[in-house]
Amino acid sequence: MSVDLRTRYLGLDLRSPIVASSSPLTATPAAARRLEEAGAAAIVLPSLFEEEILNEELQLNRSLEAGTEQFAEALDYFPAIEAFPGVGDRYLEGLARTKAQVSVPMIASLNATTQGGWVRYARLMQDAGADALELNLYHVAADPTTTAADREQTDLDLIAAVRASVTIPLAVKLSPYYSALANFAALADGAGADGLVLFNRFYQPDLDLETMEVVARVELSRPGELRLPLRWIAVLRPQLGSHVSIAATSGVHSGADVIKALMVGADVAMTTSALLRNGPTHLRAIETEMVEWLEEHEYESVAQLRGSATQASVEDPSLFERGNYMTALRSWATPPDLVTA
Ligand SMILES: Cc1cc2nc3c(=O)[nH]c(=O)nc-3n(C[C@H](O)[C@H](O)[C@H](O)COP(=O)(O)O)c2cc1C
Repeated sequence: MSVDLRTRYLGLDLRSPIVASSSPLTATPAAARRLEEAGAAAIVLPSLFEEEILNEELQLNRSLEAGTEQFAEALDYFPAIEAFPGVGDRYLEGLARTKAQVSVPMIASLNATTQGGWVRYARLMQDAGADALELNLYHVAADPTTTAADREQTDLDLIAAVRASVTIPLAVKLSPYYSALANFAALADGAGADGLVLFNRFYQPDLDLETMEVVARVELSRPGELRLPLRWIAVLRPQLGSHVSIAATSGVHSGADVIKALMVGADVAMTTSALLRNGPTHLRAIETEMVEWLEEHEYESVAQLRGSATQASVEDPSLFERGNYMTALRSWATPPDLVTA
């Protein structure tokens, strides 16, 4: 008997719940094809960053203005803008080429913190063939004059602006640092998000003690990092209507991790670090392990398993909340010689 792996995410029918999340592994048509061959049910492209677009527009404006200020006949010196495809154009072109070569759904990604003219790229991504959009809300709330409510409102306005500019499904990739996440998740739904991607992984700066400089270092995730999305998906799944899709991301390294994500109510599990570490074919190994587990435990489908361990369906719901804290600390078996007086 073969297990039915099909799932729905953002209204898209997927052959399995394993999705390749946004990373350099999805950056070219050839790389995306490799992921598709390894069984990826959908592919999220790397993000197009607001800063990249804004910097480019700024530089273009500067070069145009530099000419106009100096010469009356400056119009003659205007560079042919269309002759220099910018970062946004390259992104759209790459998306269209990948879409032409890959048959699984392609999800384009926008990384932004503010509303602005660049939001038009959402529509351009749709026109270039994206099956859905992922809006990556990555920010560090370091301004002491900005309240949590201000910050959340900026995010909600951005979700609404992107929602208004496209008709394809919209997922929002959130950080785990909202002070009232359950409330914000409901508001994101109200602002037009069709799905939540939980969670964005923040890359913390480090210090290089030789050069005395701050360095940006990306470290791949460890499997234990899945616990944060697991808790929150278990909590949010029963609260959000079934019209809101949920993707688990951070720490999905194995078939067992995908099973856990599904049990707490995720529609898909996304993976990157495990593929960067082991190569794109690791995706096939994740699927094989997931199928073996489902068969061993006599599940006929992914749908049958999904949501079997949400906060609403487990015997002790407090395990997903504060109750778990004390139990976890008390359960640590400290060696007796470390605690004797
Ligand atoms: C090298 C690298 C590049 C990434 N680039 C993006 C990106 O452009 N946009 C995005 O939303 N996430 C990006 N991510 C985050 C991943 O999509 C994913 O959410 C995160 O790594 C957690 O999943 P994992 O534990 O499976 O790695 C990147 C991750 C890595 C390691």
